[in-house]
Amino acid sequence: MNPNGNPKSERHDHLTIDRISMTFSDRGREERVLNEISLHVDKGEFVSIIGPSGSGKSTLFHLIGGLLKPNSGHILLDGTEITGDVGHISYMPQQHALLPWRTVRNNVILSQELSGRRKSEVRREADRWLERAGLADYADRYPHLLSGGMKQRVSFVRALLSPQELLILDEPFGSLDELTRLDMQRWLLDIWEQERRSVLFITHSIDEAILLSDRIYVFSEKPTHILKEVKVPFERPRKEGISLLAEFASLKQDIYFTMKADRS
Ligand SMILES: Nc1ncnc2c1ncn2[C@@H]1O[C@H](COP(=O)(O)OP(=O)(O)O)[C@@H](O)[C@H]1O
Ligand SMILES: [Mg+2]
Repeated sequence: MNPNGNPKSERHDHLTIDRISMTFSDRGREERVLNEISLHVDKGEFVSIIGPSGSGKSTLFHLIGGLLKPNSGHILLDGTEITGDVGHISYMPQQHALLPWRTVRNNVILSQELSGRRKSEVRREADRWLERAGLADYADRYPHLLSGGMKQRVSFVRALLSPQELLILDEPFGSLDELTRLDMQRWLLDIWEQERRSVLFITHSIDEAILLSDRIYVFSEKPTHILKEVKVPFERPRKEGISLLAEFASLKQDIYFTMKADRS
């Protein structure tokens, strides 16, 4: 079962979203949010979804995570249907969702506690990652002592350490101030370029999408369909200052006018 009708052995997709539709009923009123959305993320690819607020990005995130069931359509991971299943995807929600009663280290290892790995090994790995995230001094502290950017880094490290290969991030930097956001984008880019996990990244920032992604899907206003799929031509590792290039600006304009035309 896939969009092209190919046998699944020929597919290279890691994640396949096949004609997903979602309608909410709110006080007796039906509202179609997602209308036959199809997209894919290949292995090791960084794909972004950019769309206006209310276009159903978080809804899609919850559908992929199995927290919601679609009205129709299929979600496949490596060719196996996972529609409505939980536990296949590592995800980082819009708000960091750290547990306040656990230390930073114990928040990070949360996703591994049921993995059967040795606790000492898991802790060592967590500490290595906290160090890389500039959080070594905070391993034994509690989340409320951390700044917004630090909490997002802890949340990201936790997602990165979970055993699932595909990571979905729902506007992880949306609540941060502009400078912290730029730092975090650079930080994420550095880490991702070493790790090359498959990522589906949800954002409403055009700059962020271009800076980080290999490909971008542009969502319409709801009922949401895909307006455009954009391939980002910049080489990896992404150089500092690519946002100043003319090619970056024209890509940004193209996405901006596509979204603007849909709104009017
Ligand atoms: N559980 C729900 N019940 C009813 N409507 C919902 C529910 N969740 C989301 N919606 C509606 O779906 C639309 C898309 O929401 P959301 O996926 O959060 O958008 P985005 O993340 O793109 O900003 C909004 O109009 C929202 O009101
Ligand atoms: Mg959202």
